[in-house]
Amino acid sequence: MEINIAAVSFLMTLANCFLLCLNCSDVCGIDGWRLHSINASKSRHSARRHNIPTLSCKKLMEAFPLDEVDGNYVRTVKRCVFSESPPTPLKSPLKLAAVSKEVLESILDLDVPISLFEDFVLYFSGGKLFPGSVPLSHRYGGHQFGYWAGQLGDGRAHLLGEYTNRKGDVWELQLKGSGKTPYSRSGDGRAVVRSSVREFLCSEAMHHLGVPTSRAASLIVSEEPVWRDPFYNGSVQKERGAVVLRLARSWFRIGSLEILTRSGELDLLRKVLDFVIEEHFTSIKTNDPDKYVTWFSTVVNETAHLIAQWMSVGFAHGVGNTDNFSLLSITIDYGPFGFMEAYNPSFVPNTSDDEGRYSIGAQANVGLFNLEKLLEALYPVLNSDQQSWAKHILKGYPQIYQRRFQELFKAKLGLEGEEEDDDDGYLIAFLLKMMEDASADFTMTFRQLSEVSALQLHSRSISKTMWALQELSMHEYFPEWVNMYLPRLQRAQRSDEARQHRMRGVNPRYVLRNWMAESAIQKAENDDFSEVRLLQEVLARPYTEQHRAEERDYASPPPHWARGLKVSCSS
Ligand SMILES: *[C@@H]1O[C@H](CO)[C@@H](O)[C@H](O)[C@H]1NC(C)=O
Ligand SMILES: *[C@@H]1O[C@H](CO)[C@@H](O)[C@H](O)[C@H]1NC(C)=O
Ligand SMILES: *[C@@H]1O[C@H](CO)[C@@H](O)[C@H](O)[C@H]1NC(C)=O
Ligand SMILES: *[C@@H]1O[C@H](CO)[C@@H](O)[C@H](O)[C@H]1NC(C)=O
Ligand SMILES: *[C@@H]1O[C@H](CO)[C@@H](O)[C@H](O)[C@H]1NC(C)=O
Repeated sequence: MEINIAAVSFLMTLANCFLLCLNCSDVCGIDGWRLHSINASKSRHSARRHNIPTLSCKKLMEAFPLDEVDGNYVRTVKRCVFSESPPTPLKSPLKLAAVSKEVLESILDLDVPISLFEDFVLYFSGGKLFPGSVPLSHRYGGHQFGYWAGQLGDGRAHLLGEYTNRKGDVWELQLKGSGKTPYSRSGDGRAVVRSSVREFLCSEAMHHLGVPTSRAASLIVSEEPVWRDPFYNGSVQKERGAVVLRLARSWFRIGSLEILTRSGELDLLRKVLDFVIEEHFTSIKTNDPDKYVTWFSTVVNETAHLIAQWMSVGFAHGVGNTDNFSLLSITIDYGPFGFMEAYNPSFVPNTSDDEGRYSIGAQANVGLFNLEKLLEALYPVLNSDQQSWAKHILKGYPQIYQRRFQELFKAKLGLEGEEEDDDDGYLIAFLLKMMEDASADFTMTFRQLSEVSALQLHSRSISKTMWALQELSMHEYFPEWVNMYLPRLQRAQRSDEARQHRMRGVNPRYVLRNWMAESAIQKAENDDFSEVRLLQEVLARPYTEQHRAEERDYASPPPHWARGLKVSCSS
């Protein structure tokens, strides 16, 4: 590949950028949808009749000792993995703000009209227990912002039990915002409407983007007063409590193991590891003497893959503490996350994270840090050979990440074949550097590269509707880049339409931008959930252009009012 000499100084900074990036409902589409207040006089229908899912906590309760201390008060908990802890019902009237039709139907085996059943909001908010449920809160610890934070645990979440669906898949149902537990510390056990709307929308949106994630079945809003200081500046406001029913194959985190190692409860540590491996990593043999190392290697691989996927959609998690990192390498705990708009490796979604510890460009390294903490937690159950082996495995993490990052970005650029990997890496880094210089919109630059024709790129006739790409094309080295990109595409000898089609399938047109979430939240605060549901519907098909989304300017430049938007981080 020929490199223009004039571009050399530009390339010096390019290396830097490359390091930063690489180091390291479907809603209720049903008609006549209405909101429900609880009406006790109507709740004669039995759970059985409506096929309310029957849960089981047997497996967890048989596998692990429960907290010996009774009572739902805050305390230091020892020698257990779970404490029994009942949800505290929220103040009525409760309103069903949204449900995920896909989760109800394909995971919980329910027909969506079930949500019209009066008791639905009670079951899905903790007001009534699902048959078979024994609510548990999980004891875990974690490293927060780089330091060991001791006991954390489910401070406002209740694991209701496992559901085994028709397909034989097992899912753990969990309520978030359902009241105090022994792990609440100084918290009130509640979640407010705005943070719940964000979690509900984003976890489903991530699923539809193809990123491994926890899921959300329902969003229920109450009249429970909840006091929050949303900007941590002393302005306490009265907000309302809300509950999300979320699902994952498992809610175990890195911090689930760390706390057991730290407190020397090694028998329990082995029990949790054996349970996780047996239930969720079935290809690992339970009698394999090296099973913990093999398992660690799988987690290293999958965490690297997950973070590369976050990067490929411009997702910044915001609080990558070890208690927010799943042992199954799925995205969990949606707090102050954000989708990057103007490309900037230092983008931080948490407005109080001044140091940028959890900036988008730092995520690969955060993953590595967290895996180091996982390895520390495993140390006592590994012999010295296994310890060195595991360390060696961890050294491979940057490479796994980089390889996956490059694969994903090659696909985003429509590049096929492996023979030109080095040049492709250069092409990707070059583009990202220009995007950084130009503050180009991350999502729409890639999307519009999927929509523009090679001919238009060649003649630089990029229309105004391709706003992100048009802006980028003003960059002084853009022609240089196009002169490398187009011949590379042509060498693949496939039609331009096929390239566009392929690229449109991996470059979303719609992501949950903060301003979109904020606009829906403002309405939701006034009990108007129409925009929550619209976003849910749009984000269920992020790769498909949709009339209603275009009408709302979801693929347009962010509105002026969104520029200074500060997203509140308390939740
Ligand atoms: C509850 O249902 C009864 C009987 O259908 C009805 O008369 C009453 O108005 C309802 N109450 C509310 C708050 O919807
Ligand atoms: C706190 O921050 C918010 C948002 O920036 C602002 O509206 C509010 O006035 C601030 N309150 C105080 C006491 O500074
Ligand atoms: C790494 O994880 C990815 C994503 O789950 C998977 O597709 C791939 O096969 C794994 N690779 C190895 C070597 O286990
Ligand atoms: C993630 O980490 C933070 C800080 O460690 C913790 O307080 C919180 O419970 C976790 N979840 C979310 C959504 O922030
Ligand atoms: C945001 O960052 C600040 C500073 O590191 C931290 O204290 C705060 O807990 C973070 N917010 C959340 C929700 O984790």
